[in-house]
Amino acid sequence: MLRRMHKFLLLAAIMALAGCHDVQSTYNVHGPAARSIGNLSWAMTILFVLTTLIMGILLAIAFYRRRGSLAEHDPIEAGGGQMWIAIGGIAIPIIVLTALFVAGLSLMSNFPIHGMPGMPSSEQMVRSMKPDILIVGHQWWWEIRYLNDDPSKSFITANELHLPLHQAVNIEVETADVMHSFWIPALNGKVDMIPGQPNFIRIVASQTGDFTGQCAEFCGDDHAFMRLLAVVQDPKAYNAWIADQLKPGAEPTTPAAKAGEQLFVSAPCALCHTVRGTTAGGRVAPDLTHIGSRQMLASNIFPNNDAYLTAWITNAQSLKPDCLMPDLPVFTGEQITDVVAYLRQLR
Ligand code: CUA
Repeated sequence: MLRRMHKFLLLAAIMALAGCHDVQSTYNVHGPAARSIGNLSWAMTILFVLTTLIMGILLAIAFYRRRGSLAEHDPIEAGGGQMWIAIGGIAIPIIVLTALFVAGLSLMSNFPIHGMPGMPSSEQMVRSMKPDILIVGHQWWWEIRYLNDDPSKSFITANELHLPLHQAVNIEVETADVMHSFWIPALNGKVDMIPGQPNFIRIVASQTGDFTGQCAEFCGDDHAFMRLLAVVQDPKAYNAWIADQLKPGAEPTTPAAKAGEQLFVSAPCALCHTVRGTTAGGRVAPDLTHIGSRQMLASNIFPNNDAYLTAWITNAQSLKPDCLMPDLPVFTGEQITDVVAYLRQLR
């Protein structure tokens, strides 16, 4: 027990020292919408803990102060104690649950979702809330499109959502297959990705840092592995990131990376993945134009380093069972080193 406590404290200390914003919790809030959800969650938690305590105390009193046996008590028909039921069982729950319902409804103004009573239709929503980013859920990863009226300023990336600090960002969510739910607890609530129905969510982030998100609707075997990373940056860093993302894939310079590029575009990789600036133009899998700049692999599950990338390419099925990325044992020896060298320099 003591040892477990030590471990917990150590972990907590490491997280505190690392300035970890990564706690995926409704109580860990870094934006106005998330804060109002967090406040309501705290109110509910405190209220329900108090209720449980009071009920426990009442039960304990009833237990310890009981006298005689059940047979000696008045029959139920004799009545009595009905005030307890009227107040504790009916009046208080009605007041509390109504208050929570109203608070929940008012909170939903932070979730402008088409189809809700009083909300504008989808078309009106598109006009009034032009999306800055379109996120498409896939089994089991996130396609992220940065939109711009000027096509030369729009681009596609995956699984790592960059957001500017303190700016409202309108996000449209859709799905390419089954239902998913987009959720970054530190920044806002959940919004479902439903086939044939675009939904919208507005995010304002009030702190720079990395925040993890999670698909919140069961969507198949790897639902739990459908994670994403939100990176909130100050405007300068954000604009620099956008400028980098707009560039085509980096030209390989080392012999290994050059050989890797040849292998990549001629192998099955290019049928599913795009690297802008090359002949690889597949659209069913994540865009890899700047894969080297991303922190994580496989929708925010494994760190993006040589070892995991090698393992991912050759044995994706054992790392993320049933995902659409096949094992590629075609790459052997030096070939896999070259492909990894190529992908890692795509920054
Ligand atoms: Cu996507 Cu669960």
